Amino acid sequence: ATTQVAIIGAGPAGLLLAQLLHLQGIDSVILEQRSEAYVLGRVRAGLLESPTVEVLREAGVADRMAVEGVEHHGIHLRFDGRTHQLDFAGTTGRQAMNYGQAEVVKDLIRHRRATGRPLVFEAEAVTPTGFESLDGHGPAVVTWRDEHGEHRLTADFIAGCDGFHGVSRVAIPPGTITAAQRSYPFAWLGILARTRPTLPEVVYSAHQDGLSVHSMRGHELTRQYLQVPADTVLDDWPDERIWTELTRRHAADDVGPLATGEVIDRTLAPLRSVVFSPMQYGRMFLAGDAVHIVPPTGAKGLNLAVSDVSVLSHALGGYYAGAGSHHLAEYTRTSLPRIWQAELFSWQMTTMLHRFPGDEFDRGLQRARLEQVVASPTQIAALGELYFGLPFPRHW
Ligand code: FAD
Ligand code: DHB
Repeated sequence: ATTQVAIIGAGPAGLLLAQLLHLQGIDSVILEQRSEAYVLGRVRAGLLESPTVEVLREAGVADRMAVEGVEHHGIHLRFDGRTHQLDFAGTTGRQAMNYGQAEVVKDLIRHRRATGRPLVFEAEAVTPTGFESLDGHGPAVVTWRDEHGEHRLTADFIAGCDGFHGVSRVAIPPGTITAAQRSYPFAWLGILARTRPTLPEVVYSAHQDGLSVHSMRGHELTRQYLQVPADTVLDDWPDERIWTELTRRHAADDVGPLATGEVIDRTLAPLRSVVFSPMQYGRMFLAGDAVHIVPPTGAKGLNLAVSDVSVLSHALGGYYAGAGSHHLAEYTRTSLPRIWQAELFSWQMTTMLHRFPGDEFDRGLQRARLEQVVASPTQIAALGELYFGLPFPRHW
C-alpha cells in the first residue's frame, strides 16, 4: 500500500493531523498499537486553550464540544485558606474550554471514519524506515504486523505522533536529537469521580502538604489531582485515603466541604519537563508528546500537541500545493519558540503551586509569588494570556 503521510499514533496529535490533512485533500494512514477501546478509555487532559478550540472548530470536529464542553473564564487559586478567583476572560477577552481528551479523541475518530480513510488499531511492531533524507529519492517505509500478518506501507512522509514512549523518535539515528529536561520529586495521582464540582472552574489549592487540583468533566463528574511523592504506589491509595487527602487540601474558610463519591478512574503520572530537538529528521516529523513533555500544572500537553500538528499540517499542505519543502524544513524553527514558552509557563506554575523540599527562604518566595499573582489585574492578565494560550506559530 502507499499513502502521502504515514501517521504513527492515534492520540490527539495523530488524529487531528489526519483531519487537517484530509481537509487539504491529503491522504494518510494512521497506525495505532492499542485497541480502539483502550484509546477511548484514557482519561487524561481536559483543558483546551482558546487557539486549540479555534483549530478544532476550523477542523470541523467541534460539533459535540460546542454542546457538551464547559466554557471557562478563569481559574481559582487557593492558598492560606482563601480562594482567589482569577478572571482571565475579563482581562484577556478570551476563553478556554473544559472538554475531556477522551471526548476529543472520540470525536476525531468518528470524523476520521466519515472520511473513509484508513485508521488501523492494534498494529504491532510498527517500524519506520527509509526516511533519512527530506529531498532524496525513494519513499519512506513503515512496516507492522496484525492478526492478518505483515504489512508494508510506503509514504512521502512519516508523522511520529506516538507519544513519549513511541517508536518514531527512537528510530532517528542516535546523536541527531538532543533532550533538554527536568524531573520533579513528585507525581500526580488523578481521579475521575461521580461528584458535582464545587466551583464551575478549575481550582488549584496550594496546600502545605502539597497541591490539589479540582476540575470537572461536564456538570456531573469531577477530575481531581493530588501531588504525591514520585515513588507512590497506587495500591497504597484506596478511595478513602484519596478523599481524606483531597478534602484536607481543598479546605478553605470560604468553601464548603468537598463532595465525595464513587471513583471511576485513577492514574498516576510522573512530572517532568522534556524538549527534544530538532523535531524532525529527513522525512520524519515528530509532534506532541513524542517530542516534548510538560508537567501537567499548566494544562499545556494536549494543547501543544494541537499547535504542533497545526504547524505541520500547513507545512505539508504547502508542499503538496507546490510550494516546495521550505516550510517542512523550517518546522522545528517555527514550532520551538512557542514550545519553550509553554515549558517556561508549566515550570513556573509547577514551582509556584507544589510543595518542594526547600527551606524557609524558598517557602517565603513561593508565598510572595502567589500573593503577587493575585494582586492586580495586570498580573492576572499576564497569567491569563499564557494560561488561555499564546497564538499558534504561523509561517504561512
Ligand atoms: P498520546 O496521547 O500519548 O498519543 C500517542 C498515541 O500513540 C497513543 O494512542 C499510543 O497508544 C500510540 N503509540 C505509542 N507507541 C506506539 C507505537 N509503537 N506504534 C503505534 N502507536 C503507538 N494536557 C493538557 O493540555 N491539559 C491537561 O489538562 C492535561 N492533563 C493531563 C493529565 C494527565 C494525568 C496526563 C497523563 C496528561 C495530561 N495532559 C494534559 C497531557 C496530554 O494528555 C498529552 O500531552 C497528550 O495526550 C499528547 O497527545 P499525543 O497525541 O501527542 O500523545
Ligand atoms: C485539568 C488538568 C490539568 O493538568 C490542569 O492543570 C487543570 C485541569 C483537567 O484534567 O481538567
